[in-house]
Amino acid sequence: MTSLVPAVTEPARHVAESTAGGRIVAVASGKGGVGKTWLAITLGHALARAGRRVLLFDGDLGLANVDIQLGLPPGPALAAVLAGRMALRAAAIAHPGGFDILAGHSGSGALASVAPATLEQVLAALRVAASGYDTVLLDLGAGLDRSVRRMAAFADRLLVVATEEPTSLTDAYAVLKLHAADIGSVADHRAGIVVNIASTRAAGERTYQTLARASTHFLGRTPPCLGIIRRDDHVREAIRRQSLLLERHPVCPAAVDVEALAAAVGAPAPPAVPLPRR
Ligand SMILES: Nc1ncnc2c1ncn2[C@@H]1O[C@H](COP(=O)(O)OP(=O)(O)OP(=O)(O)O)[C@@H](O)[C@H]1O
Ligand SMILES: [Mg+2]
Repeated sequence: MTSLVPAVTEPARHVAESTAGGRIVAVASGKGGVGKTWLAITLGHALARAGRRVLLFDGDLGLANVDIQLGLPPGPALAAVLAGRMALRAAAIAHPGGFDILAGHSGSGALASVAPATLEQVLAALRVAASGYDTVLLDLGAGLDRSVRRMAAFADRLLVVATEEPTSLTDAYAVLKLHAADIGSVADHRAGIVVNIASTRAAGERTYQTLARASTHFLGRTPPCLGIIRRDDHVREAIRRQSLLLERHPVCPAAVDVEALAAAVGAPAPPAVPLPRR
């Protein structure tokens, strides 16, 4: 069993210099099963290995499964926070991988229809807790329900995960479109695209171009490509063993690609640029 300790007294690791204090990064996709949870975990681990203080928040309020992918013992953490029984910082646990986790309870489904006011309280607490970290990663659920949209709009940065499958592309576009509507008419660079399970880098690049073209044409903004993660059987194997890919297979293709993504996500976000008035 993975050994875990409460993270309340000390964040996982300290960095010498922090350029992006407390940035909240959400991972969304619309379509399910494209690798959001695995990516959030592995990205968090990569950032922690680079010396960043990271909190991973299981924002899949319906079918939390960060705990399952990491083999965490069941805990009441997120449910207790949402019920107001526990402070958010007290509920976080330190993972041996060097990052903190606020895990949900897989399969409970009980948190799916969290009241809007409760969600706002949790997000406010998360914003406060974020000041103790360099990056807070929110693993969002599939679909585009109210709480997914709210968490995506709340984040300082949104990683939209797409794969080469046409349904994934249309769903990723829907995420971009609703996010643009939710954050208002100011053009900004909050949303970026990550292509996962790419058959080759070139194919991943084409997938990005397709999505970026639709976004440019219909939404008037071109989200940057933050990373292309290649399809790699080591991912499945690491998940099956409930272990961290960067520990088991640190130089496999997907690991190398996530390290590159971590470098892009760890860099300061470009400033928002207002749209010219028509
Ligand atoms: N780069 C990759 N190469 C190969 N397989 C991958 C890769 N990324 C993810 N997968 C596979 O995709 C599966 C789904 O991953 P994961 O559960 O993280 O997706 P998800 O988007 O969080 O799903 P959900 O929408 O249900 O929450 C994993 O079990 C893994 O086997
Ligand atoms: Mg998931």
